[in-house]
Amino acid sequence: MIKIAIETGLVEIELHDFRKHAEGKHSQVDDSPYGGGPGMVLMLQPIVDALESLIDKRLKDGFERSRLILLTPEGKTFTQEMARELSREEHIILVSGHYEGFDARLTQLFPFEEISIGDYVLSGGEAAALVIIETIIREIPGVLGNPDSIEAESFRSGLLDYPVYTRPPEFRNLKVPEILLSGNHKLIAEWRLKESIKTTLKKRPDLIDESKLDETGRRLLGEIKRELSE
Ligand code: 6GU
Repeated sequence: MIKIAIETGLVEIELHDFRKHAEGKHSQVDDSPYGGGPGMVLMLQPIVDALESLIDKRLKDGFERSRLILLTPEGKTFTQEMARELSREEHIILVSGHYEGFDARLTQLFPFEEISIGDYVLSGGEAAALVIIETIIREIPGVLGNPDSIEAESFRSGLLDYPVYTRPPEFRNLKVPEILLSGNHKLIAEWRLKESIKTTLKKRPDLIDESKLDETGRRLLGEIKRELSE
């Protein structure tokens, strides 16, 4: 999907290695921490030089502003809502480093937004960057083949997906719910919404937000709760 988005010109992705900005004959980018202790700390100079040259390049390329994001487990947890918002940006700079270490002064030098992808620790932000890039790209109109498919999807409505089925109508005694074969689109839509609500209530009750449901959704939620308590 990322490849298609690039090929159709919807996004451009550039990879920049701050090691290229390292100075001295050893091209050093990290050093031991002041005060002692294990691990290495990423030095300010290579990262600052890399970022400053990127910001200059951005202006030369005609982009007026960008979002400057530091990937760190200390950041705000990434959500679909954040992806949707970032998908409207013209230019985004994601900075991946290693947890043990950016020199703490880095965040005083640039106005970073700090983002984490969840409550666990990765050794570096690279995998997090990939997760964020893919999620943002999927939100760009025209990336997904069918514009409806993204609408129906989990998290947009705040609900998990309804179950889907394809041929055959029966497999090892397992039948496709009859209503889906009925051709009654109104009833099918309602059944799907109800299944979405049921699945969400069962697997991720924390996601249920009644204020995000329309009148039908609230009625179905009431029905489900009653059915469950019977
Ligand atoms: Cl953005 N970086 C690292 N190193 N670990 C993480 C993370 C980011 N998000 C969750 N864990």
